[in-house]
Amino acid sequence: MDGNGRWAKKAGKKRFAGHTRGAETVSEIVEEAARKKIKFLTLFAFSTENWNRPKKEVNLLMKLLVSSLKKEFSRLNKNKIKLCSVGDLNSLPNSVKDELMFVIEKTKKNKKMVLTLALNYGAKEEIIEAVKTISNKVKNSIISPEKVDESTIISHLYTRNLPPVDLLIRTSGEERISNFLLWHIAYAELYFTKTLWPDFKKEDFQKALINYKKRERRFGKTSEQII
Ligand code: FPP
Repeated sequence: MDGNGRWAKKAGKKRFAGHTRGAETVSEIVEEAARKKIKFLTLFAFSTENWNRPKKEVNLLMKLLVSSLKKEFSRLNKNKIKLCSVGDLNSLPNSVKDELMFVIEKTKKNKKMVLTLALNYGAKEEIIEAVKTISNKVKNSIISPEKVDESTIISHLYTRNLPPVDLLIRTSGEERISNFLLWHIAYAELYFTKTLWPDFKKEDFQKALINYKKRERRFGKTSEQII
């Protein structure tokens, strides 16, 4: 969800106005994804690197998260969306943790779509934590080193309950991954658009889905093999 700051600058507003408008886009895209019967939608809401932003912006973003969770809670339930989070929640303010836990608990039985917020998330850190836990298990003879395989790694990631990513969308013209879901994007289709996140409407999302549908996903095989 990139480009909130640039959107605000273009509109002659403070950066935070871009985030506020970005939160409205979140609402529209989440609803559209559920309507399109997408089973998993994961949003990069706050990265481990985002702590390096000015303190005022970080605080306002945290406040926006709390108010968005409060505001969207009933809509999530109405659309049968289950909220989850990935990332290290320990360093988040209690207000965010409490509201997040409340909504996660209250939406846990919803089955239409899983909406995952990546919060204080960094894929490298996620992999390091998994390696540490696995190493300890090996050291304590809980896992034998020869048995370590893909499923061992996956089951120790924050994202253990997520399937591989089919489509990764980044808005705002930047063509980078920025430490997002590194394991799960191994075979993801990448879609980059110049549209800034606050301007990314459901029509833009539909366009990305149409583009994705046209792609041939070979997973290392030949075209003939996948027909
Ligand atoms: C990137 O744009 C955006 C963020 C770091 C924050 C994303 C947050 C929201 C969309 C609002 C709240 C989220 C939820 C889940 C309700 P940027 O600030 O890096 O933009 P720039 O590159 O143009 O400066």
